[in-house]
Amino acid sequence: MSADIPIRTDKVPRHVAIIMDGNGRWAQMRNLPRQEGHIEGVKAVRRITRAACKIGIRYLTLYAFSTENWGRPKEEVSALMALLVSCLHNEMPLFMENGIRLRVIGQEEVFAPEVKAALDEALAKTAGNTRMDLVLALSYSARWELTEAVRKLAGEVREGRLEPGDIDASSISRALATSFMPDPDLLIRTSGEYRISNFLLWQIAYSELFFSPVLWPDFTEDMFYGAIADFQKRDRRFGKLSSSNQSKS
Ligand code: FPP
Repeated sequence: MSADIPIRTDKVPRHVAIIMDGNGRWAQMRNLPRQEGHIEGVKAVRRITRAACKIGIRYLTLYAFSTENWGRPKEEVSALMALLVSCLHNEMPLFMENGIRLRVIGQEEVFAPEVKAALDEALAKTAGNTRMDLVLALSYSARWELTEAVRKLAGEVREGRLEPGDIDASSISRALATSFMPDPDLLIRTSGEYRISNFLLWQIAYSELFFSPVLWPDFTEDMFYGAIADFQKRDRRFGKLSSSNQSKS
């Protein structure tokens, strides 16, 4: 952990989600093909995964490929898929040495067989790890996820297993791809864009938001710790009063 950025060990967010934005611009600024930005982005994934693990974050969710990203040029999509496969292979020692369990949220069935096979293998190999869940959002969008959840609940109603009147916030949370983990405490977006881009729309209802102007490949451990330290100063009220004001009428 950085000596310069003090992090309270008693207030570490359980779940941090990151929109890793700015790979393309990082490459364009250097007159490099966009793919080079993604390659550099993988190094940042490695740095931040290690840093998150070090401070005891339990769930780290990374927006690695959105459903909308399929609309990018074919070469960029292929490069991202190849990078994903090599990353799953190359980072296995990092996952195993640090007790990291890999998880995926998204439309897994749309991936090419070799990508699906690499994902399945990495999920199986890391299934017994319990220190941190690294959740890759792949071919993910919140509207896709919510649509699937509505379909699932509608199916349960049709089969007579659920009364429409019994559907509440927790039944919806349970029907989402993220049902195995708590909602993010902190959502970070890099690259100076102030958007959510169809990411975890239901789950971030009460997340703290942190926007960094830095492009994802340049995002360092200290910047990450800075975001955590900033989070630790915030007064999370969840729509209620802060504890110091709770007794006032
Ligand atoms: C956004 O940058 C980033 C992505 C669309 C992909 C994120 C992927 C990685 C960090 C590398 C691959 C990850 C894994 C887990 C293998 P952008 O291309 O939208 O950047 P721009 O907004 O500057 O164009």
